[in-house]
Amino acid sequence: MTDSTNTNPAIENYLLEERSFEPSDQFKQNAIIKDAAIYETADKDYLKFWEQQANQLHWFKPFDKVLEWNLPFAKWFLGGTLNASYNCLDRHVNNGLKDKIAYYFEGEPGDKRSMTYGELLDEVEKFATVLVSLGVKKGDTVAIYMPMILELPVAMLACARLGAAHSVVFGGFSASALSDRINDAESKVVVTADGGFRRGVVVPLKDNVDEAIKSSPVVESVVVVKRVGDKHPVTMLENRDYFYHDLMSQVTERIGAVEVDSENLLFLLYTSGTTAKPKGIMHTTGGYLTQVAFTHKAVFDLHADSDIYWCAADIGWVTGHSYIVYGPLANGATGVIYEGTPDFPDKDRWWSIIEEYKVTILYAAPTAIRTFMKWGIEYLKKHDLSSLRLLGSVGEPINPEAWMWYRENVGLNKCPVVDTWWQTETGSIMISPLPGITKTKPGSATFPLPAIGAEVVDDTGKKVTLGGGYLTLTRPWPSMLRGIYKDPERYQQTYWSRFDQRYFAGDGAKVDEEGYLWLLGRVDDVMNVSGHRVSTTEVESALVDHSAVAEAAVVGANDATTGQAIIAFVTLKSTESASPEKGEELRAHVAEKIGPIAKPKVIIFTEDLPKTRSGKIMRRLLRDVAEGRNLGDTTTLADPKVVEEIKQKAALNTSED
Ligand code: PRX
Repeated sequence: MTDSTNTNPAIENYLLEERSFEPSDQFKQNAIIKDAAIYETADKDYLKFWEQQANQLHWFKPFDKVLEWNLPFAKWFLGGTLNASYNCLDRHVNNGLKDKIAYYFEGEPGDKRSMTYGELLDEVEKFATVLVSLGVKKGDTVAIYMPMILELPVAMLACARLGAAHSVVFGGFSASALSDRINDAESKVVVTADGGFRRGVVVPLKDNVDEAIKSSPVVESVVVVKRVGDKHPVTMLENRDYFYHDLMSQVTERIGAVEVDSENLLFLLYTSGTTAKPKGIMHTTGGYLTQVAFTHKAVFDLHADSDIYWCAADIGWVTGHSYIVYGPLANGATGVIYEGTPDFPDKDRWWSIIEEYKVTILYAAPTAIRTFMKWGIEYLKKHDLSSLRLLGSVGEPINPEAWMWYRENVGLNKCPVVDTWWQTETGSIMISPLPGITKTKPGSATFPLPAIGAEVVDDTGKKVTLGGGYLTLTRPWPSMLRGIYKDPERYQQTYWSRFDQRYFAGDGAKVDEEGYLWLLGRVDDVMNVSGHRVSTTEVESALVDHSAVAEAAVVGANDATTGQAIIAFVTLKSTESASPEKGEELRAHVAEKIGPIAKPKVIIFTEDLPKTRSGKIMRRLLRDVAEGRNLGDTTTLADPKVVEEIKQKAALNTSED
């Protein structure tokens, strides 16, 4: 943990922030949660608090014990049986919400569609039948690799309906990354689309699946949703590949929701850790659904009968799982799903969507906000954003400047801003304001939510009441990961060994005089690029996989727009020579191994990499070098000055062992 807390002066400036914002009287009056006593009540008996929240769900059989905690292994709501898809669909349809819109869909090319709760249930029941016909049963894991179209939540809920787990792989990942995830989860069925639209170009998802299957012999069937049609024809292999629409048109029978144990695996979601191998994070049914439903209602002040809620994340990441699919549907909300990028066909696409659907709640990442700041407010000015009443932020630290811009220009100075801290592993929001109660400060995620124990500790594990340290969680919570798929050892080691009795989040944080928490970014070898987690070691191993590379070291350097940018220091084999073309080739190679999000922004060729006496690459030094340079958007050539600089710095700094 030597490469530790961020010393970026821009981040230090957050802590001098003195502005604060109380919720308006009007917001307070109508808020779902307006009594601050909730914190105290939940604190006194957190198990009772979660029991009450769990009882908001539909259980086939009530649970008889709230928690069994054998640190670090938790079981929540023991003895209870339920079904996530029943809770998200049947329950609402049975309660008279059949004709309520569950999702408005806006495709990137401009096509529109909507689906009521009744229609969504119908589609999910049918697709569950299709999955059964392909041999899927309770306990299986289905891989889903799709664009942001309505069939994606349909596929997820159909798995949940059967008690099978889904493993959604973000559509921006490469064939090779997809294959690794299919193999680890042993998914016999893959649900995909012929392609998806991104900035007007087709992303060839089915082609990627074909490529992935070459190294994933476990796959028996592929279901293909037609999204792009003639724009990108696909090859279909007989007795393996089936069009979604063909299979659905043959369905006569409907599958009811299968009763599953509270601890039945709901999904796997792979995320980057500090090693080259992504971790399959396990989430189970009862606890996960309890906490996503509660936090979605409490943090976004969801008034399900009047709000139009838009989470602009991709369902391929945890934000989409929890706050596009499970949380909103469990609460009977109406949501918007948008397929494409914010700048297609023009840079006002988001604002036109907000105006068109009269979106009231927007949940987005700081990188998007900083990009909009760069583009300028003229794009916002073209549209009526007055329907908005609450704004959320997630995925990375939000600098006060971006927070203020969001509040003033998107929220027109009337919307509370909730900065929400959480992780794939936590499943739900853990640290965030409650918008009807909390006085917010630009750049601070404020306090742990009711019933959540979060503390900052120093290197020795002692609680810090003022100043900086490591963020830890002190109590189990219902939507906590249940482990890393097939690797309990790594689960214990990664999260529960650094500090006694505490979950180590991997983030640095500071506490101010009023107890507010300020998240400072990762303290391990995980980078956060545009709110996406990318592991330095994963990118390094993709680089050394290239035949020209002898050695590589990757660091995340601070970047004004994307939070961090990936900078790679590469030593080529002696037979190779550095050139801009070689840099491009290496970047393309990383995109092929992992996906475009992992492409280094800059590749710096060096003759040597600075190492400690024990052979560890001195990343902090490399980061200093990267941040001290004016790094353009291109590959940097072999530069004797860089090597010299690294050498000089290494000479001054040999203690990083
Ligand atoms: O470093 C923290 C950062 O994102 C990491 C979790 O990434 P992931 O599992 O991909 O989930 C992202 C969406 C929940 C955290 O360890 N992070 C997330 N939210 C915030 C944040 N950093 C600062 N402030 C936040 N609000």
